[in-house]
Amino acid sequence: MFQDILARDAARIQKQFDLVLGGLDDLDVTHAMAYATEGGKRLRGFLVLESARLHGVDPAQAIWPATGIEALHAYSLVHDDLPCMDDDDLRRGRPTVHVKWDEGTAVLAGDALQTLAFELCARPEVGSAEARAELVLTLAKASGVQGMVLGQALDIAAETAKSPLSLDQITRLQAGKTGALIEWSACAGARLAGADPEPLRRYARDLGLAFQIADDILDIEGDAAIAGKRLQKDTEAGKATFVSLLGLDTAKSRAAELVDRACDALEGYGSTAETLKDAARFVIARDS
Ligand code: IPE
Ligand code: IPE
Ligand code: MG
Ligand code: MG
Ligand code: MG
Repeated sequence: MFQDILARDAARIQKQFDLVLGGLDDLDVTHAMAYATEGGKRLRGFLVLESARLHGVDPAQAIWPATGIEALHAYSLVHDDLPCMDDDDLRRGRPTVHVKWDEGTAVLAGDALQTLAFELCARPEVGSAEARAELVLTLAKASGVQGMVLGQALDIAAETAKSPLSLDQITRLQAGKTGALIEWSACAGARLAGADPEPLRRYARDLGLAFQIADDILDIEGDAAIAGKRLQKDTEAGKATFVSLLGLDTAKSRAAELVDRACDALEGYGSTAETLKDAARFVIARDS
């Protein structure tokens, strides 16, 4: 079952975090880093490991960028939850980092998780110098002002925009804030193998959009106890989402169409891509 594969990969990534973070100094910032990486579905790390499996890459190589992308994602969540961003006090069923420690520690833990992500992608164990440089270059683009940070900036700006965003504008926002890291993750296995990442990119573009639509639907219909974060917040905050623009029913059918198209993009891989297709179906069926 797909959830078992996801849980197995999540446990492997946790083991790697224990190894990487275990030897660090005994400080608030290092404790906060470890805390912020715990829990979570680890979907992005799974995408790295699974796209590597698809290309016959040794998991001992892929585990480093898989852990790296989860560090980068954890940083994005720590900062996303800050009072100056979404102002959230609950994440993965526990107090957010700035609530458990303080804002300064949360900013620094996020900063350090971000740089850790690049360190893990550049480790000699990952592969050739060329593959490592390619991972680092593409991760910089995906996480910065052409990717995740761009999406977050558009997301925050939309809260005070005078008129609602158009479908194209929301698509651009979502492709940045959520899509870029998901795309990087799915392409990582091909990059490690020196193969063409294009089919995985097409898969991940649709998967990323479907993933964020599901997150926005969860905000309206989800159960906070299961999701592990505060819900029913987006509307009041004035967030621009597919649900705010299209309504729940149209957003749900749009997400289902995107998942179908994501699966179609994998046809060339034959039956070896079944787990990635299961991941796409999981993304819109999840309750956390
Ligand atoms: C939540 O991401 C933030 C978004 C980009 C929507 P996830 O739903 O993947 O969060 P975790 O890692 O499983 O907690
Ligand atoms: C967060 O999006 C995206 C990033 C952290 C890059 P959201 O603000 O919608 O995520 P949640 O709902 O707080 O998990
Ligand atoms: Mg946000
Ligand atoms: Mg948020
Ligand atoms: Mg959300």
